[in-house]
Amino acid sequence: MGSFEVAFDDGQLWGGTVTNEAAKRAAATKMAERLAPGDVVGVGSGSTSHLTLQALVARARAESISWTAITTSLEMELACGGLGVPVGSLATLRPDWSFDGADEVDPAANLLKGRGGALLREKLVMAASKERYVVVDPSKLVDRLGVRGTVPIEVVPEALRLVRDRLVANGVDEVTVRRAETKDGPLVTERANLLLDVRVPEVTERTEAELKAIPGVVESGLFIGYRPSVIVAG
Ligand code: A5P
Repeated sequence: MGSFEVAFDDGQLWGGTVTNEAAKRAAATKMAERLAPGDVVGVGSGSTSHLTLQALVARARAESISWTAITTSLEMELACGGLGVPVGSLATLRPDWSFDGADEVDPAANLLKGRGGALLREKLVMAASKERYVVVDPSKLVDRLGVRGTVPIEVVPEALRLVRDRLVANGVDEVTVRRAETKDGPLVTERANLLLDVRVPEVTERTEAELKAIPGVVESGLFIGYRPSVIVAG
């Protein structure tokens, strides 16, 4: 296990541990081969995406390739700023292609995402992209989504109790409010919402629609049917 930092002006902006670092770096380097001059690229979040961003920047510098990023989180927007990558907005640009990590990938390339809490913008960028890539190490490959991990959902704060009660009525018996790590109380997302981590008895093709049908649920970490190309290394 290694760690990395993204420098921001005079200090450390983002630091974190990286599991399976060698495999993630290898996949990141492979992803960077896709970069072409003038590309608008959707930039995912998480450790693999940080490594992929670094690989893209290294290639762009070496070959004088100019490109624009559309980021999926404030953390990646700041990382792009620190690395000198111009950042555009999804409101005015459509990504030619995008990359992101994932927590789980099933054999049909459906994804479970959201460990880092950025699932809302991640899904917007993936949905808007003309080509989609998921960059993962082999530990992320699963036979079925949700067997290993919980499904995160972003919820409007005042709907927390309503959503919890609806989930329990629908047969879910484990619903946890995600806590912040360096602040007391719940984690608050970039859109000032809360995250619930939900143990779904069985993820089916209907689960995402069922979760999003509950009033107050803004988005779920199930990324179904986007058919990204999956880049696995290691
Ligand atoms: C961020 O919100 C997540 O969806 C990440 O993309 C996902 O958790 C993968 O993270 P790592 O690349 O750090 O494993």
